[in-house]
Parts: sequence; C-alpha cells; structure tokens
Amino acid sequence: MDLYVGLDVGTTGVKGILVDETGKILSIATERLSMITPQPAWAEQEPFSWWEAVRKILKKLSLKAKEHSSKIRAISTSGQMHSLVLIDKNGEILRNAILWCDQRTHKECEEATEKLGGEGSVLNLVGNPILPGFTLPKLLWIRNHEPEIFEKIEKIMLPKDFINYMLTGEVKTEHSDASGTVMYDVSKMEWNDEVLKELNISRDLLPEIIPSNGVVGRLKPDVARDLELEEDTLVIAGGADNACAALGIAVVEPGDVMVSLGTSGTVLAPTLGEKPDPKGRVHFFSHTVPGMRYHMGVMLSAAFSLEWFKEKFLSEDYETINEEVEKVPIGSNGIVFLPYLNGERTPHRDPFARGVFFGISSYNTKWDMVRAIFEGVAFGIKDSFDVLKELDVKITNVRITGGGSKSKVWNKMLADMISMKIQKPVVDEGASYGAAILAVSGATSENPSKISKNWFKIKSSTEPTIENTKVYERLHQKFVKLYSSLKNVFRM
Ligand code: XUL
Repeated sequence: MDLYVGLDVGTTGVKGILVDETGKILSIATERLSMITPQPAWAEQEPFSWWEAVRKILKKLSLKAKEHSSKIRAISTSGQMHSLVLIDKNGEILRNAILWCDQRTHKECEEATEKLGGEGSVLNLVGNPILPGFTLPKLLWIRNHEPEIFEKIEKIMLPKDFINYMLTGEVKTEHSDASGTVMYDVSKMEWNDEVLKELNISRDLLPEIIPSNGVVGRLKPDVARDLELEEDTLVIAGGADNACAALGIAVVEPGDVMVSLGTSGTVLAPTLGEKPDPKGRVHFFSHTVPGMRYHMGVMLSAAFSLEWFKEKFLSEDYETINEEVEKVPIGSNGIVFLPYLNGERTPHRDPFARGVFFGISSYNTKWDMVRAIFEGVAFGIKDSFDVLKELDVKITNVRITGGGSKSKVWNKMLADMISMKIQKPVVDEGASYGAAILAVSGATSENPSKISKNWFKIKSSTEPTIENTKVYERLHQKFVKLYSSLKNVFRM
C-alpha cells in the first residue's frame, strides 16, 4: 500500500501526518519551534529550524511507514503564509525569515502603495492592499535597511517552498502562497509585472509558479538516504496554511466557509469571482483547488489571546478554564475585551490597535475577564462574517478547525453570534491534512477537491440559540463602538 505525508510548517511548531489513500491517519509527529523577537513587534525564525524539525518528523514517519510494510509515495507541505526566506546564488540562506506577524514595514507599505498609484490601483493590480504582514513590504524593507543582503538575493521563497527546496534542490512556488506576496495578480493568476517594474524588483528573484498539486521534484539522493526514504519519493508543491486547512475540511466551493481558531483566527470563504473587497478588509487569495479563489478575514490574535492570558496570569488547565468560563453569564458581567494584542487586520487594518479590558468593576472576578477574552475573540470572528455578508459572499456550511475549536463554549458562542450551525470535522489535523490531500492528488492526478469531499466527515454540530443571538447583537455593538472610540488613542 502506498502512503503519503502532509506537513505543516506553522509558527509555533511543525506537524507531519502519515495517511493512506483513503485519508486514514496512521501516524502523527510534531516538533516545537521558537520565535526570535529582535525588537518589539518584530518576528523572525531560522529557516533551518523548520528544516531540522521536518527532518526529525520525516524520519519518524518513514519508520512508521516501514512498520506498515509500506512505502511513502509523495510528500506535500503547507506553511505559514507571507513569511520571507532569502537565498543567495549558492543556495545559502541570507538571513532569518521575517514572519507574517512581523509589523516592521509600515513605511514600506505606504511608499509602495503611493508609488503604485494609491490603494484603489493596488487592489486592481494584486487583489489586496499592501499590509505589513505580506511578503512584498518585507522585501522592500530589506532593500532599505540591509542593502548588502538585498544585493545578494538570488531567489525569494515562502516557508513551505524552502522545505521543498531542501528536499529536492528545486525552487518553485504555487498559486496559494504566491497570492499572499502582493506581487501576484489574483485575477490573472500570475506574477504582476507592473508591480515589479514600478517597484524595481527583478522578476528573476521570484520562483516559477506551478499548481498546488504540481510536482516540484524527487528527493535529492543524500536527503533520501538521510531520511531513509526512497529516491523516487515525489515532492508535491503544497500550499498556504489557510488554503490547506480549508482543503482538509472540504471547504472547496462557494457556500462552504472555514473558521480557523488557531494562533491567528481566519474566516475563509471560497469564491469563483474575480473581485476583491473594495475596502481591502478581507484578503483575496488563490485556493489550492485549481481556479478557485477565496476571501479571508484574518484576526492576528485569536486563540493566542487566551494562550497569552493563561501563560501570564493563570495556573489552571484548559479544561478548568472552559468549565469556569461556562459558568459566567453572557456579557462577562460587563467586561468587554478587544483582542488586538499585536494590532489587527480584519476589519480594522490597524497595526497600532492594542488589547483592552473595558468595563471592569469591583464586582468582577478573573473568570469574567477570561470569558471576556472568549467573547472578544468570537466578536472578532463575527466581524469577518459581517464583512463577507456585506460583500454578498455565499455562506451555507460553516466548519470550524484549529486548537480553539476544541472548546465547546467557544463553538457555542460563535454559533450564537453568527446565528448559524457550526460543524466540527472528525479529522481535525488542520493544514497538514490538506497538504496530505495535495500529496495524493499530485501522485494520482485525482482532483484535490474530489479527494477532500471523499475524506471529509462531520463529527458534531453546534446549533445557535436565537435568544443568545439577540443578546450578542447588542453586546457586539458595544465592542464595535469601543474600538472606534479608542482608534485615535492607540496612536498617541
Ligand atoms: C494569513 C496569515 C496567517 C498565517 C499563519 O494571511 O497571515 O494566518 O498564514 O500562518
């Protein structure tokens, strides 16, 4: 029996899963990663730390495959979007990767937007505004601040492309990650020469774009030996983590919507249309399913808001936290939390916004504050739904994934706030499962969307309660007003 590996290079760790052709998971391996913060709001990682983690995981999974007397036929990888990896002409890494959550590039964003004729023109060219998280402004920052490094760049890559490069020696990317660079035209599905020319970036720096289920190459002989894998193991391009996570839970057609409650929180809705949000509040990227695009709202600190509070102030485990939060009434006894610990993308696009606990009285306990975090994050997700509705995006099936989706109380809150049923999948392995689908698709030429629909099963559903929806509607207005009242204060 042939087996397949799906990898996910995340921000806090790397995960690998070994699956068979029916989507059954035979083994899971994980490795933790750490982040380097040279200055506040900067975020970097060493690409080799991803590679070391991938090597350990692949060694474990290749042993498992042997235990099943089977061979790994193909490997595919998903990865954090937007993060910039640079290599020189000898294929050596030039500096740490600058990550998607790094906020150092406001100036470059403003300058590039102005050079390209303002935001309306940028939206026409690439489908998205130029935001600090995206790849292009990071490259411009390197040119402005580290010209000696910029001079030496031979190719730029996204994290999963770097893993594919280490496995095969080939430098390629695919549409879902290319679309997060803002150097790619999401409507035409190719690098945008006008943007490159205006900003004086050579097209030679950018990798060739192939389909997400396209073959990057086969394992390099030394890598195959090191990982105890066969040299003819196929390496399939893979995709951006959000697009892979959506593929993994069969969010592949207009009407399907994914809520991902991970470190960041995303609401992803596939679309066949070619039009981005004219206000740039939700992103407009290419899916891993050929020809499909998606709109996506992104919260920068979703489950991370709770992780941060737990790490700094709580000694209880997640089970107790959930039990205690369930006992606090809707509205957190008056406290409202704005979950903007490191700025926010959707809907505010405000790198200066910060976290706020509002309305604390002497009556409150710490559990009211924790419930306010749950509610604040869920309101942030509701904000993305509201933008999608304003854009007339079709929303029929809502599916949830990510670490935060393990919490029943969070699922219920979200269902109540958006007033829709929310489905949980049986297999909830996030982006690595979507990457595994691409591995199978690349090796067998089966359509990824078809494989994902065959593999997907619903574990449980959470229904909304109308009375709660009404209460949350009122509280949400307070949440929205609070940000607009503080917007200018954040900049002081
Ligand atoms: C999406 C985004 C994040 C990263 C996380 O635009 O920046 O969701 O992909 O890895």
